[in-house]
Amino acid sequence: MDGWITARVLHVLGVVLWIGGVAMVTTVLLPAVRRLKAPAERVAFFESMERGFAAQSRITTLITGVSGFYLVHRFGLWERFARVEYWWMRAMVAVWALFTLALFVLEPLFLHRWFIRRAQRAPESTFLLVTRLHWVLLILSLVTVAGAVAGSHGYLFGPAR
Ligand code: HEM
Repeated sequence: MDGWITARVLHVLGVVLWIGGVAMVTTVLLPAVRRLKAPAERVAFFESMERGFAAQSRITTLITGVSGFYLVHRFGLWERFARVEYWWMRAMVAVWALFTLALFVLEPLFLHRWFIRRAQRAPESTFLLVTRLHWVLLILSLVTVAGAVAGSHGYLFGPAR
């Protein structure tokens, strides 16, 4: 199998596992934690459940990023980043950078501790914040997936040149 096909397969598998996991956490896990746990326990319980997913996400974001940059390099797609109709190329890198920053830098450094401390002071509003953040990330990711599938198969929104 040619390298670019392998890279594309890995890219899509990475996206499916990663964004699928974000969808599962947002639409199933968070509502279940809200139903089953008292406000004071929600954030700590949720964080302990999500830990396994965060470890998986580190691997899938890495696979998605490496395969994505390989495709850009292999096909010389750098100039797309300057063109409006390829907004989804910038969106892919932005979503990837956001998650990479959160998973590899902010979470291990302080985000985890900050959420736990905030949850002790204000449990309800912290859980609401966690839920909202997950919805924002999920919606951004899904818009990006939709744009990338349509765009990479020839449908370009925006002014074509
Ligand atoms: C470093 C970050 C990333 C880079 C450099 C990158 C790059 C690429 C490239 C070059 C393609 C092929 C485009 C084409 O064939 O015209 C692609 C396809 C795609 N990417 Fe990314 N990507 C990245 C992150 C992401 C993320 C975070 C997502 C999801 C939120 C994503 C979802 C997709 C999808 C769904 C496709 C289309 C696959 C297909 O239909 O065959 N990518 N990406």
